[in-house]
Amino acid sequence: MALSEDFLQELRSRNSITSVISGYVQLKRRGRTEVGLCPFHGEKTPSFTVYPDTESFYCFGCGIGGDVINFIRHAENLDYIDAVRLLAQRSGLEMPQDNSFDDSMRNLRLRIYEANREAARFFHSTLISPTGRQGLDYLRSRNLSDKTIRTFGLGFAPDSWSALSDYLIKEKGFKPNELVEANLSFRNKKGGLTDRFRNRVMFPIIDLRGNVVAFGGRIMTDEKPKYLNTSDTPAFKKSYNLFALNKAKNSKSDKIILCEGYMDVIAIHQAGFDYAIATLGTALTSEQARIIKRYTNNVIICYDADEAGQKATARAIEILRQENLNIRVLTVPDGKDPDEFIRKNGENGHIRFKMLIEGTGTDIEYQLLKLKSSFDTTTTDGTVRYMNAAARVIAQIDNPVERDVYEGKVCDEFNVTKEEFKRLVNSVIRSSRRREKTREFEKIKNDLAVPAKNETVYTNRRQMRSQKAEEFVITYLLNNVDMAKAVYAELKPEQISEGFHRRLYETIIQRAMNNRSSGFTDISGEFTMEENSRIAAMLTKYSPSLHTYDACKDYVNAILEDHEFVSAKQLSEQSDQDVQSYLDSLKNKKLGNKI
Ligand code: UTP
Ligand code: MN
Repeated sequence: MALSEDFLQELRSRNSITSVISGYVQLKRRGRTEVGLCPFHGEKTPSFTVYPDTESFYCFGCGIGGDVINFIRHAENLDYIDAVRLLAQRSGLEMPQDNSFDDSMRNLRLRIYEANREAARFFHSTLISPTGRQGLDYLRSRNLSDKTIRTFGLGFAPDSWSALSDYLIKEKGFKPNELVEANLSFRNKKGGLTDRFRNRVMFPIIDLRGNVVAFGGRIMTDEKPKYLNTSDTPAFKKSYNLFALNKAKNSKSDKIILCEGYMDVIAIHQAGFDYAIATLGTALTSEQARIIKRYTNNVIICYDADEAGQKATARAIEILRQENLNIRVLTVPDGKDPDEFIRKNGENGHIRFKMLIEGTGTDIEYQLLKLKSSFDTTTTDGTVRYMNAAARVIAQIDNPVERDVYEGKVCDEFNVTKEEFKRLVNSVIRSSRRREKTREFEKIKNDLAVPAKNETVYTNRRQMRSQKAEEFVITYLLNNVDMAKAVYAELKPEQISEGFHRRLYETIIQRAMNNRSSGFTDISGEFTMEENSRIAAMLTKYSPSLHTYDACKDYVNAILEDHEFVSAKQLSEQSDQDVQSYLDSLKNKKLGNKI
């Protein structure tokens, strides 16, 4: 991944970390840093921090961090080179043409988009041709207008083994391998290609940039599987995509209706609500919730009324709550799904559905209602059990004012005094906090657990000290790129005790030896996203004012001393008397108290 120094430097100077991140996160200045709500996990108090000094960011809540390129990788779900490309585009910088970086993955992805687009065209023109008669009749029988069919680009995969594969290869010049990678075709026993989708009506799935990334295909009879979907490909990840979000994102509405199925989404759009979306045959993921949050804070869950749908609703509430979205739940009456509901109501479908939208309750109301139906609240025993369960639901609410409203509602219904019920809710909150605390405490205890034998504790303290010293030296070098040679004269990579630190140090030193600069952005491409988070975490620990050369020298000495100690100890474990006494003498030397 050889992007030139000059290019990266230019990229960095044109894309200051604060300017890029403030396009995604509302940042507030706090001293030398900027803070905001983390875009990568749900939180109510800001622990997401941007460090303009070191051009890095780090979230103390979820541990994600890195440089500006890593931020884009996380936020846009891109690989390294595409994140660089996005930043280059954003700042009007031309990508280097020398092709020295590996573009094969990106090229394959582009070919898949093209193949999918051609396939979507093929399916659609087949649908409106005589071959597609059966498909068109089917869609019309599902009440879809020709306009809807057009705007969603619906199509028909003919009942043929290889019509699409043949067309794409012969007419459009695609290679068999590309069609297999796109999951449009698979290799048959004879070595030829077979179409994945046959005799199905086709629903193209389009991402936020307008690429056709996948398809869902429905069989027109009762056969199974009812829907066949594109599996994950280099251009498509189910858990990151939502059906029709490409349309819903342009809606004037400030909410989104989250459905289970393609047909529900399309029927709701046709009824005049252009903000319905669906997951692609899987449960909602937190990635999807985060993507939704980029466009709106208000989600109406509108799943099927059956048991599976209700289970999925409970899961979706949990996930959306983690992202701090406002949730409402729309329950379709008479056990129907939204598509059936709209169709059964004929002319009045859109009005009746609008009434359902307006009549939705919040997620808490929904949970309370469900609870109530599962207890017999005509008996005292049932009421008590309901109140206990209701207290647990209400205890999930962080905002005390909001909590108060629901406490009032529950109490009014059963003639219970609010004070009593509040006490109950508060005790649930306290005990769940206690449980959380205990869990945290146990974790710390585990992390620090060391055998009580003194020698081991002593060694351990040495190791902790050198870990810290190594972090200091490395972050010092990331911020003072000119000093690498001077530090290298004192400290060799093999004297660094921790594996990741050693690799990081080696990278920095090697670059310095070749007179290449080694700031965070220069080296971030050589490490994984997790490793970059770790580097960002290290950078947060030292403000640049602590990074003096004198301090660095002290830390280098500490590393050398501990390295010597540990090497000697390793020798002593071979029970050599001489080394043992040397070790004892070392122990008696006072530990440097700089740390
Ligand atoms: P449903 O069975 O509720 O489908 O599955 P639907 O949208 O109401 O379809 P119609 O009305 O019968 O035509 C909900 C969603 O689950 C996924 C699809 O995304 C579907 O839209 N699914 C369902 C599959 O991926 N495969 C299947 O076999 C069934
Ligand atoms: Mn349906």
